[in-house]
Amino acid sequence: MKQLHIIQHPLILSKMTQIRRKETPTKMFKELVNEIASLMCYEITRDLETETFEIETPICKTTGYRIKGEDLVLVPILRAGLGMVEGIQNLIPNAKTGHIGIYRDHDSLEPVEYLCKLPPNMENRDIIILDPMLATGGSAVKAIEILKAHQVKSIRLACLVGCPEGVELVHQNHPEIPIFLAAMDEKLNEKGYIVPGLGDAGDRLFGTN
Ligand code: URA
Repeated sequence: MKQLHIIQHPLILSKMTQIRRKETPTKMFKELVNEIASLMCYEITRDLETETFEIETPICKTTGYRIKGEDLVLVPILRAGLGMVEGIQNLIPNAKTGHIGIYRDHDSLEPVEYLCKLPPNMENRDIIILDPMLATGGSAVKAIEILKAHQVKSIRLACLVGCPEGVELVHQNHPEIPIFLAAMDEKLNEKGYIVPGLGDAGDRLFGTN
């Protein structure tokens, strides 16, 4: 079943407005990306399974809850995905981080993997792929393929800005993967940028614009 969650919240709306503005400086851009990722984390992790265990308050014994199973893994797609890691890790401190690097081949225009470093036991973990921009969807589709090749069963895709073209490509290739966005924009332009978007997220995060 195709799932697209566009997370609507006044704080997300106003922070998204700030990061879209071209005059927003690198430091603030970085902070806002992490803050938006933190706010999104609440919805992205809503259906994680929990288990109970006994704890003791200063008053008495009671039931506590924890996220069930092995530590969750954040998988930023390099390089812009790195900008969302801290915001989520602030809320899930024992989350592990794997990295996937993908570039687009100049001739074939196909996405090509150049780096994949993942924690052990990926097959038993919940994974959140991070990439601020879901543009053509090519990198997201490739990242999902790489994770599926590692026998990962539980994958969520979290992006700040999406567009119909990117969502459609992921849905076509991996219809069972839930997509979480902070905003769904209008379209891609002829250069592959999301419109209105926020420009090149990697450049804006790392000050290379
Ligand atoms: N990647 C970006 O960083 N921005 C876009 O608009 C599209 C892809």
